[in-house]
Amino acid sequence: PRNAVRGADGVTRFADTDVRDLAEEYGTPLFVLDEADFRSRCAEYAAAFGDPESVHYASKAFLCTEVAKWVAEEGLSLDVCSGGELRVALRAGFPPERITLHGNNKSIAELTAAVEAGVGAVVLDSFHEIARLDHIAHERGVKQPVMIRVTVGVEAHTHEFIATAHEDQKFGFSLSSGQAAEAVGRVLKADSLELVGLHSHIGSQIFDDDGFELAAHRVIRFLAGMREEHGTGAMSTVSTVDLGGGLGIAYTAEDDPLPPAELATRLQEIVRKECENAGFPPPRIAVEPGRAIAGPGTVTVYEVGTIKDVALDGGMQRRYVSVDGGMSDNIRTSLYDAVYDCRLVSRGAEAPAVLSRIVGKHCESGDVVVRDCWLPEDIAPGDLLAVAATGAYCYVMASNYNRLPKPPVVAVGDGQARLLLRRETEDDLLRLEV
Ligand code: LLP
Repeated sequence: PRNAVRGADGVTRFADTDVRDLAEEYGTPLFVLDEADFRSRCAEYAAAFGDPESVHYASKAFLCTEVAKWVAEEGLSLDVCSGGELRVALRAGFPPERITLHGNNKSIAELTAAVEAGVGAVVLDSFHEIARLDHIAHERGVKQPVMIRVTVGVEAHTHEFIATAHEDQKFGFSLSSGQAAEAVGRVLKADSLELVGLHSHIGSQIFDDDGFELAAHRVIRFLAGMREEHGTGAMSTVSTVDLGGGLGIAYTAEDDPLPPAELATRLQEIVRKECENAGFPPPRIAVEPGRAIAGPGTVTVYEVGTIKDVALDGGMQRRYVSVDGGMSDNIRTSLYDAVYDCRLVSRGAEAPAVLSRIVGKHCESGDVVVRDCWLPEDIAPGDLLAVAATGAYCYVMASNYNRLPKPPVVAVGDGQARLLLRRETEDDLLRLEV
């Protein structure tokens, strides 16, 4: 987080709040979210793209009522991809016209809720959905604004589980097969749908801009082709090209994220040139960062429990440091081989560092939070560790594996802490039993 400071005593303070006080008050494991960090990243993206509403915060990265309010206050738009996320947004009073609904298999109930709420756009992902949504909007006598998600055929350089624009995967209408063109034709014929944009999302945790640039070229050329085929009149409502999210963040000191302003300038330049060549005014460029806004400002604080040393080949030694959470609050290491870093935050340490592996308390050996990090040799039960950049896709992917209750999320700012989501209790879990 931008407001994390390690004091002369070795203790880390998040936005002037002592980590030991946080652990004392809220227990561990604990997600600590730096509000000013989150808001400043919203503002950075808004400034980079020249207009806050063109930046859609991808709520799948992390959402709760309070965070939805921050996003609304910063003037951004919001992406949701389920009825549950939509419900949180509406509960927060998020302006519905700034909400976009995504998903490859939205239910009738989800589509209906979105239409009834008056969301700004539904991103269409399949032929079935075009017909379904047209029907739902027709029954309610409204014309629903929609975007079409096109698959641009880009191989994003990221983990295969989170790359989404190659042909052989479940999302969107492919450009190369003609499905995307067919989708445009069907939407233009649908009486209760209004085509307001084209959408592309190439993947997640991406560090180079080539993929985004290629996507921009392809989407604009496709738009040009559609304008030729259907006439500029029929296509005149298409005012937005949404290039999705996916900007990578630094999980460790080795990662080198793309500055949003640089990406924005390049994409705007590509779109401007392509449109100039094709002879039509450039559409508004929208983006959907989730991780880049929510990720960096949050840490997970764990308490050290047990410690075990293992002799490795070649005289090396590895220390297993067990913490009080694990794959139930951060599945990313096990699922994507994600690399995290970890620090001792509750005290200073003079002792030499030893190669350590941070593991959870779950009943399997793959329950690893940080594969390799260096921690002082005198690490001991009761010490507090913080794993950085856990704001995106950790809490939201948390499970109750081994019947562990989910940790709380606390926001810090101006020397104060505020509970956003309380810790789950064992009673909460028992409440589901019939
Ligand atoms: N827009 C769409 C349509 C998306 O599918 C996603 C992410 C985003 C925006 C936001 O992407 P971001 O800026 O956060 O990279 N659970 C995985 C990430 C899955 C991302 C899914 N879609 C992880 O933990 O890395």
